[in-house]
Amino acid sequence: YFVPKAANRPVYSYRLSIVHFWSLIFIYIWAGPHHLLYSALPDWAQNLGVAFSIMLLAPSWGGMINGLLTLRGAWDKVRTDPVLKFMVVAITGYGMATFEGPMLSLKNVNAIAHFSDWIIAHVHVGALAWNGFLTFGMIYWLVPKMTKKKLFSTPLANFHFWIGTLGIILYALPMYVAGFTQALMWKDFNPDGTLVYGNFLETVNEIMPMYWMRAIGGSLYIVGAIVMIYNVVRTIKVGSVIEDELAEAAALTRVSKRRTAGETFHTWLERKPIQLTILATIAILIGGIIQIVPTILVKSNIPTITSVKPYTPLELEGRDLYIREGCVSCHSQMVRPFRSEVERYGEYAKAGEFVYDHPFLWGSKRTGPDLLRVGGKYSDNWHLNHMYDPQSTSSGSIMPAYAWLVRNEHDRSDIQAKMEAMVTLGVPYTEEDIASADASMDAQATQIEKNLYSDPDFAKTYEADKKYAAENGEDFIEMRDREIVSLIAYLQRLGTDIKVKETGELLSDNKN
Ligand code: HEC
Repeated sequence: YFVPKAANRPVYSYRLSIVHFWSLIFIYIWAGPHHLLYSALPDWAQNLGVAFSIMLLAPSWGGMINGLLTLRGAWDKVRTDPVLKFMVVAITGYGMATFEGPMLSLKNVNAIAHFSDWIIAHVHVGALAWNGFLTFGMIYWLVPKMTKKKLFSTPLANFHFWIGTLGIILYALPMYVAGFTQALMWKDFNPDGTLVYGNFLETVNEIMPMYWMRAIGGSLYIVGAIVMIYNVVRTIKVGSVIEDELAEAAALTRVSKRRTAGETFHTWLERKPIQLTILATIAILIGGIIQIVPTILVKSNIPTITSVKPYTPLELEGRDLYIREGCVSCHSQMVRPFRSEVERYGEYAKAGEFVYDHPFLWGSKRTGPDLLRVGGKYSDNWHLNHMYDPQSTSSGSIMPAYAWLVRNEHDRSDIQAKMEAMVTLGVPYTEEDIASADASMDAQATQIEKNLYSDPDFAKTYEADKKYAAENGEDFIEMRDREIVSLIAYLQRLGTDIKVKETGELLSDNKN
């Protein structure tokens, strides 16, 4: 809509734009599982996601080419009109992102790219170039139209365009380099079958320069957006009023109560927001229903494992802290069935392990290592020290410190309501479990406190703090009441429900 308007040219192919719209919304919803390849999602859903993602290439590129061809005979305007500049880069970004998307949906490409910065590069070409620049172009086109004024400053808009473009390049290119670097390092084996970079931090440190370049690129992009806001505000406040509007086409003549002359079904539909919304919703719902409903209703899609039990009340509280602090944005909880991952993290994830996770915390990017099997890997003290100051246990870590978790009292008074909410989602807590939640939390927290005491350094500092508080008449929060204890309970539980014998055989009744 905006490209023809801005170029003052008819769309290259109206018919193609209609096919583009309907096939996009119909197919896109099916493509969702391409985010979950090699995860614990049922295979049939993964494969449907792959097939429809490949199909998406056709409408996406049809739409992109339609957009670029609309500019035929108007390319000279691109040189002078900032609106068109933004749109040309947006359409190109759309083409790049929608070519890369189907490629990343191929399982063998995804095996390398997923959880790495490659995906971050991909989504930001979409977010910054395609969607961001299209939005900027629309704003620069709309604001003068809506206020009937001339844009305050074209040079400023051009400046926005160039600094934004530079920002995208500086943002995306280093992310690709970082992604390939991670992918290669994560999967690199020595001839004797051990990982070359067994310490995850080696792979983090390798890409630090790329993170800095990404930060610079992102900052340039934001500076551009701020310049735009200034330009828009000045346009509204002081821009010069346009006296003469371009002539507009006369209204179409009505041939009946509903239709105007020369109208087809689709042109009629385009001016009927409710009808269009209903039909579009149906087009989207078909794929959604076919993929989502069976995964919920068909029991074989949700294989259960008898050794997998619901979280204890304290672990559930700890899980909420994990969600509150956003740990999921840097850590995945999904070990995929590859030798490189099983070697690094442990047994690959089974669907049945997540039946009590609401919402699941599979994650989408590994800035830090996967945590699915972290339970039992370290002592409680290690976790406390690591949360207080990650550098103290992992030299060179870029994980932020969460010192407040160690200091703060944990308000666990909502636990019963939380457990009842879980019951409505199918977690089999009994009335008795819920009634005894407080006692259960006390017992588990006291045990963790005891474990922490086994470290002489911890005992010394903790006792000193306690003494200091007593001497100065300050309130002292017992360790068992603090947030860190709940979080430790959760972390130590992760991935421990499944025990794997030396032979790699599962010790449970269900091998899914
Ligand atoms: C900015 C990204 C980031 C965030 C946010 C983050 N971490 Fe980390 N985390 C890392 C990195 C990088 C490492 C690897 C270096 C290290 O051990 O500190 C790591 C390591 C860990 C480890 C050790 C894993 C192992 O197998 O060695 C645990 C446990 C952990 N993080 C828990 C958490 C928890 C809990 C939170 C939320 C409170 C969190 N992380 C938030 C980046 C992050």
